[in-house]
Formats: sequence, structure tokens, C-alpha cells
Amino acid sequence: MNILILGSGGREHAFTKKLSESNKINSLFVAPGNAGTSKIATNININPTNFNQVKETVLQHAIDMVVVGPEAPLVAGVHDFFLADEELKNIPVIGPKKDGAELEGSKDFSKQFMEKHNIPTARYQSFTKDTLEAGKSFLETLEAPYVLKADGLAAGKGVLILNSLDEAKAELTEMLSNQKFGEASSTVVIEEFLDGIELSVFVLTDGKNYKVLPSAKDYKRIGEGDTGLNTGGMGAISPVPFADDAFLNKVEERIIKPTVDGLQKDGIDYRGFIFIGLMNVQGDPFVIEYNVRMGDPETEVVLPRIQSDLVDLFEGVASQTLDSKSYEVTSQTATTVMLVSGGYPEAYEKGKEITGFDTVENSIVFHAGTTEKDGNVITSGGRVMAITSFGDTIKDALEKSYTNIDKISFEKMNYRKDIGFDLI
Ligand code: AMP
Ligand code: GLY
Repeated sequence: MNILILGSGGREHAFTKKLSESNKINSLFVAPGNAGTSKIATNININPTNFNQVKETVLQHAIDMVVVGPEAPLVAGVHDFFLADEELKNIPVIGPKKDGAELEGSKDFSKQFMEKHNIPTARYQSFTKDTLEAGKSFLETLEAPYVLKADGLAAGKGVLILNSLDEAKAELTEMLSNQKFGEASSTVVIEEFLDGIELSVFVLTDGKNYKVLPSAKDYKRIGEGDTGLNTGGMGAISPVPFADDAFLNKVEERIIKPTVDGLQKDGIDYRGFIFIGLMNVQGDPFVIEYNVRMGDPETEVVLPRIQSDLVDLFEGVASQTLDSKSYEVTSQTATTVMLVSGGYPEAYEKGKEITGFDTVENSIVFHAGTTEKDGNVITSGGRVMAITSFGDTIKDALEKSYTNIDKISFEKMNYRKDIGFDLI
């Protein structure tokens, strides 16, 4: 098979590596990819949200399947575009159509979906400019901290958690009346604060059947001890020790089954990944959010633990025979530590030469924001590389990642030295 992967991050490098290990692969293409994917696949320098360019690539390289990494092309309807095109309609796309992608594209839609299908989540109400005063009144019925969410995609910045009622009212006004997050905050979801420990569970579904993928915990803050600004993710661990069988059974019964059934009942033919952000509140799982793709850097620990052939699983998704596919996961722990550009997640410089990553032993280097220039690998983004390792324990695995990180350098390289600190 020839497979095209859309995206350019560590997640996409992890997909590329995993797919490249299948003996069903003939050629692999990544658009646009990075300096890591170019070593094991062919990078195609196009924009994944330019569907005409995607089509051209698919036809030119006789692509048999498309795997979508990030949410943007899904929310913009890449899967629908394929189905509506005579030449593309029989080429499977791994990732939901526009209707399913609304689970991530609209917080209001996802809250309505959860309410309708009795899926545990924080109590909420949604407001617009015209109902601003009602929004302020609703805030008065809640206790601090207050959670405000822009309805639409806001590059991970659309959620505010505020300690004072006055501040919450002021921010609500900013979002609704002054378009703090542009169009994305023309509707705002206000919800109850959930007090617990966060983790994520990933599901691969063909719309009827599903496989529960390994759980993972992501470290989102830039600073050690979970302090400072939010990032795309500074590291991840899988499995999550406190997500034991009893807890995961609750997740499957109360959340995964009703989600997959609910999609089917609502006539949403969903074929792809569901990333369920959860809060463990005293042993009970609540959904914080759905994403319609894999997480980054969670993918860099989840996929390496899957021992089955990912192409085979994807074929099951495409033909709705996922139930017949074998699926195995190693019991070993995987950890990943993200190397980032100094300054990230605020302004940072690019174009720094990266050295030493080719001397890494006993870890996997997943490239994220990297590119090639004059035979060197240089930085091209905030998150630069994820260093993944296996171990019998979190500590063993992390030790390998950190030992290898000592060999890697680029100007102003930064990373968190305490990934997993709360779990060890
Ligand atoms: P989201 O973009 O929905 O994942 O929200 C970003 C982050 O805000 C989450 O990862 C949580 O840490 C936090 N968060 C979102 N909703 C809640 C909630 N209802 N209670 C507590 N924390 C929340
Ligand atoms: N690491 C969080 C995300 O991918 O959304």
C-alpha cells in the first residue's frame, strides 16, 4: 500500500515510523513532514488544508489511504472532500468527516452530545453576545474557580480558568462582546470546575467497533512542577499508573461505549481516532474534552506501545471490520520528553542547528519542528524533538530519555527535567 500522512509534528513522525514497520507498506509519504519523516518516507511540501494540493499528491503517487494527523484538515472537511470527489471517493481517510470533527471543532456541540448520551462531564451552559447577562447570572450560581471555554478552535488557548467572579465576568464580556478569541468565542461554554487528576484515553473506531488504545498523561505547562504557560505538551507517559483496570472499566462503560453508540445513533459515521481528555474525580471519570485526532506528544508514547500492525488496524477502520483485527499492547512503560526552543510557548528563534541526536541509543528520536538546511538539521518550530524510551518503570524509561538528551544540543534548547514527577 501507499499511504499519505498529513501533518508535520512529532505525532506524524510517530505515525510514519509505526506505519513503516508494516510489511503491507509499499511507499509512505508525509505532507509536509519534517527532517525525521524524510529519513523513512518521502516528504511532500504542500499545505494539508489545501485539499486540491492533497488531491494532486494522492493521484500523482497512487495513494491508497490517507491518515490525518492534526484536527484542522478534519474540521475543514478533508474527509468529506474525498467522498465528494469521483477520483478520490474510494480512497479511505483515517479521521472523521466534518460532522464528527465537530466534537473538537465546537465545545458547545460536544457538551450537547455528552448531555444527550448521558456521558459524565462538568455541568455547563452556553452563551452568546445576546445572552451575556444570563451568562453572568449563571457564573453566580457556580463556585470558584470558573471555567470559560471559547466554542471554536482557538489554538489551544481558548480555555480560561479564573479564581474570582469579577474576573470571570470581565473575561466573559471580553470573549463575547469584544471577540477575545475572534469568531471562536462568539459562543462561550461556562462549566463547573472539576477537581481531580487529568489523563487521556485514546480510541480507534470504525464507527461501530472500537479498540481502546493505551492511556497517557501529558505535561502541558512549560515550567517544572506544572507551572507557567500552557504548551502543546512537554512530555508524556503511558500507561498512567492510577488508571487501573477498575477505572478503565468505568471509562469504557460510561464514556467510550456511549460515545461510539451515540455517534452511530446520531447518524455520524466516524472512522478515526477519538482522544478523550478525562478528569479522574475521586475514582470517577468525567470528560473534559474530545479531540478528533491523536495527541502530541501522547502519540509518541502510545503508538510505540502498540505491537500490532497499524496498517492492518487502519484497514479494519476503513472496512468496518475492526472487531476482527488483532490488537496487542506491551506492558512496558513508555515516556517521552519534548525538547523545545528557548522562549516557547512565547516568541522564540528558529534555524538553530541541532547536534547529537544521531548518537542516541536505547531511545527513539521523534522529530517535530525540524527541517533540513545545507545538510544540517535545524529547528523550525517551538517543539523540536520528543525523546521516547521504554522501561519496566517510569523511572527506568525516563532515565534513558534524560541520558540521551544530554547528548543533544541546540542554542537555547529547553526541556522539563521533571516529567512524571507526580507519578513516581
Ligand atoms: P481543554 O482545551 O478543554 O482541554 O481545556 C484545557 C485545560 O483546561 C484542560 O486540559 C484542563 O486542565 C483544564 N480544564 C478544562 N475544563 C475543565 C474543568 N471543567 N475543570 C477543571 N479543569 C478544566
Ligand atoms: N497534547 C495535547 C494535545 O495534543 O492536544
